[in-house]
Order: sequence, then structure tokens, then C-alpha cells
Amino acid sequence: MTTGDDQNAAVWQSRDAVEKWVAVEGEREAARAAQRQLMADLLPFGPDEPFTFLDLGAGTGAAARAVLGSYPRAEAVLADFSDQMMAEGARAMAPYDGRYRYVAFDMITDPWAGTLPDSFDAVVSSQCVHHVPDERKATLFAEIHAHLAPGGWYLNFDPVSADDPIVAAAWRRAADRADPGAAAKAAHRTPDEQARWENHIRYIAPLDRQLGYLRAAGFQAVDVFWKHLDSVIYGGCRVPQPT
Ligand SMILES: C[S@@+](CC[C@H](N)C(=O)[O-])C[C@H]1O[C@@H](n2cnc3c(N)ncnc32)[C@H](O)[C@@H]1O
Repeated sequence: MTTGDDQNAAVWQSRDAVEKWVAVEGEREAARAAQRQLMADLLPFGPDEPFTFLDLGAGTGAAARAVLGSYPRAEAVLADFSDQMMAEGARAMAPYDGRYRYVAFDMITDPWAGTLPDSFDAVVSSQCVHHVPDERKATLFAEIHAHLAPGGWYLNFDPVSADDPIVAAAWRRAADRADPGAAAKAAHRTPDEQARWENHIRYIAPLDRQLGYLRAAGFQAVDVFWKHLDSVIYGGCRVPQPT
């Protein structure tokens, strides 16, 4: 449960919070390597095809790197609202210099028009849509759909919540077995850790609701391409133009 106000911008625009997040990025990314690669593999491009994609809420660019690494002629726009994350990302993205650029973009307050390019061949997001309230998830998905080229895909790797408390308890049981220290850590968070945790869970929404937002936005071929407990990769495509 969350208690205080939305502190999302304060968390992600804080030097301290970003340093703590980056300190364990190597470990976190090692555990996510298969999901990163799956997102790249799901995109409908040939190995030598040139295309431009958006990584929304890109942070240090982990999702973008998987795509750039798989498609040597791809180019990326990385959008984020945290100068601190983008500065860290400039280091992590160095192997892809010349094939990407960062754009300062707040998913909640900034208009797409005039900030981001009008059209992308694909859009990916990872671990950031859960930072926006549900009403904005729905309108954001509609904006993504509107700015995708026909046949373009949107894929999102994010946590979801369970509608059913019995399902939530089963997820927790399995997660605690996999990481026996997690429950003790959760019971002894510092105030800072508690604030970051509350920020993490504040707007996590049930999977079906998010799939509904995708369909309402006009996406076709909506699917959950991967799922483990509360972690999913879902997405869909903008209907291709008739040939
Ligand atoms: C958990 S990190 C994930 C970063 C990266 N996508 C990844 O998978 O490693 C969440 C990212 O979302 C960004 N973010 C959160 N709220 C945002 C907003 N309203 N607009 C733009 N970026 C936002 C943060 O700055 C941060 O970089």
C-alpha cells in the first residue's frame, strides 16, 4: 500500500536515488538478459533493415541497447525526464554513439508534438509505464499508436498487479522462495527505501486492464509474449496498410 503523495519526479530526478539504482544495474540486467533479447527478437525487422525506434522512459537505455545490438542499422531515440538517468545512460550507450540520441520528455506533462519525432517504426518501453497513473497509461498508448508507422510494433516490459488476492499471495510465495531474504529486507526498509518502494508500486495496474488500454488505443495482435509472476512483456501492432 502507498501512503504519501506521488514523488515520482523527485525520486528519478535525485542524484542519490539514481546512484543507488545504477549501483545494482549490472546484477539486475544479468537477470533480465533473456527478456531484453526477446523484446528485440519480437520486432518484425530483418537483420540488416534500417529502422528508427523510440525507447520511452529509457533510463540508461537497457531496452534500446538490446535492439541496437540485434539490428546493426537500427537507430534509437531515447526519451526520459531524468537528467541524472540520461547522464548515466550516455556512458552505457557509448558503444552505440551515432546511432541514438536522448530527448528530454516527461511522459505525463510533455506533448509528443514538437518534442518527439512524429513517426517511429517501433516503440519499446521497459519498467516505466508503471510510473504513470492509469488514465495516462490509456492516453499514452493511444499516442504511441498514433505515432507508429503502419505495421509498427509497441512492446512493454513492466510489472503488473494481481486483481485476485489469492493470485497475489501465490506470486509473493514463489518470489520469497526464489529470494529468501526479500521478506526480511521489505520489513526493514529505511525511510528512503520505503519512499522508493512506494513510488515503484503506486500505479502498477492489473494486466487485463493494460491490455484493454492497448486494444482501445487501436492496437492489433495484442498478446502477452512473456510472463513470470508479476513481470510481463506485452504489446501489439498498428494494423499494416492494405497491399
Ligand atoms: C525503473 S527505470 C527503467 C529504465 C529503463 N527503461 C530500464 O528498463 O532499465 C524508470 C525510468 O522511467 C523514467 N520515468 C519515470 N517517470 C517518467 C516520466 N513521467 N516521464 C519520463 N520518464 C519517466 C525514469 O526517469 C527512469 O529512467
